[in-house]
Amino acid sequence: MAHPSQPASPRPLTSARPTAPLRGKIRVPGDKSISHRALMLGALAVGRTEISGLLEGEDVLATAAALNALGAAASPAGDGRWIVDGVGIGGLGEPENLLDLGNSGTSARLLLGILATHSLTAFVTGDASLRRRPMSRVVDPLSRFGARFLCRDGARLPLAVTGAADPVPIVYRLPVPSAQVKSAVLLAGLNTPGATTVIEPQGTRDHTERMLRHFGATVITEPHEGGKRITVEGFPELAAAPIVVPGDISSAAFPLVAALIVPGSEVTIEGVGLNPLRAGLIECLHEMGADITLVNQREEGGEPVADLHARAGELIGADIPAERAPRMIDEYPILAVAAACARGRTVMRGLSELRVKESDRLMAIATGLAGCGVEVRVEGDTLTVEGKGGPPEGGAAIATELDHRIAMAFLVLGLASRRPVQIDDGAPIATSFPDFVALTNRLGGDIAERR
Ligand code: S3P
Repeated sequence: MAHPSQPASPRPLTSARPTAPLRGKIRVPGDKSISHRALMLGALAVGRTEISGLLEGEDVLATAAALNALGAAASPAGDGRWIVDGVGIGGLGEPENLLDLGNSGTSARLLLGILATHSLTAFVTGDASLRRRPMSRVVDPLSRFGARFLCRDGARLPLAVTGAADPVPIVYRLPVPSAQVKSAVLLAGLNTPGATTVIEPQGTRDHTERMLRHFGATVITEPHEGGKRITVEGFPELAAAPIVVPGDISSAAFPLVAALIVPGSEVTIEGVGLNPLRAGLIECLHEMGADITLVNQREEGGEPVADLHARAGELIGADIPAERAPRMIDEYPILAVAAACARGRTVMRGLSELRVKESDRLMAIATGLAGCGVEVRVEGDTLTVEGKGGPPEGGAAIATELDHRIAMAFLVLGLASRRPVQIDDGAPIATSFPDFVALTNRLGGDIAERR
């Protein structure tokens, strides 16, 4: 260990260098959103739930650890599957220690929903990124059930929650298009008498609704003023049910765009979940002229799945409407990278939610692209990227701000730019896609730690 008075040796930086064409067939890890929900609903069901394809990234492991601390039993079976022994709705117990959810907003917000209608007190925290993120968006509706919260300014973590002993059901209209908030309210409604309703003006990912039905709950979704009204009946009998987790489209997005922008590439990504409320990126890339074919379309575990076959070619700029944002909210960093390599202007609208992700992603994308010699503008919640139709200059060192998607997006840019792109911290990639570097290099990429 270095003596305290000595300067610490500089951390190696991860960098991506321009490469020869990427080629091959890969599988990406399980969907993060579905993995969290599989563990949580498994913990609330009666009986043993078997999960295949669970993402073993840090975010999902944080959910598993929290559920174990609350008295459920979630563990790997040793054969690639996970087993969850559920305690039944309302059966979780008070944790002895802080619940530390690391970098994971989904773990924090969905678990707060569950805790809000359990008669117990829990203390919840996370890493520096999660402690900056707004929790008021769940604390407000969950307080209406009767839960009490003690929190810092802006309801940021750490916070304490005392769940309602006699919760009352609510009707809640989402003020922001957020699947996390919708899910927190629906999960709180499980241990609440009567019907709990969420009104969502814009469709967001519906994995919670799909999986609740898969476990036997009654969830009614009706059209409502151009959006949806989603109602869950309290105290359902959740019966343990096997779950197959499809590949995560939000992870597949990185090798997919890499294959499009590294000239001569041809890559197949197998078993990617294509829930229509997640697949906005594919629409955008098709509009930009990308050569992506959906092969072997099928349904697995109640979700549409296909293999994605991508070939490099010229991309053209596009105008991406705000209405599409909830269906691809996590994909803007990598879409912006594709835009930087395209010919012409790409305008991405309606991005205010990007400011409250693992980092202020709007700022991180704009700063990073500008550092790589790309002409980029942020006006309000609109991001404009001027593509020159060839490789960007690159050569920058990117501050990743504890944000896995910023880290991966800029490493992909480094594969296709003139000069290498460095990121200051590769560790956050393990939250969602632990094998990202190995898989990309297996396709022919050149990502490594270099001083
Ligand atoms: C998620 C919802 C989205 C997304 C996040 C995962 C989920 O967040 O950005 O990565 O699993 O429900 P918001 O609900 O805040 O939009």
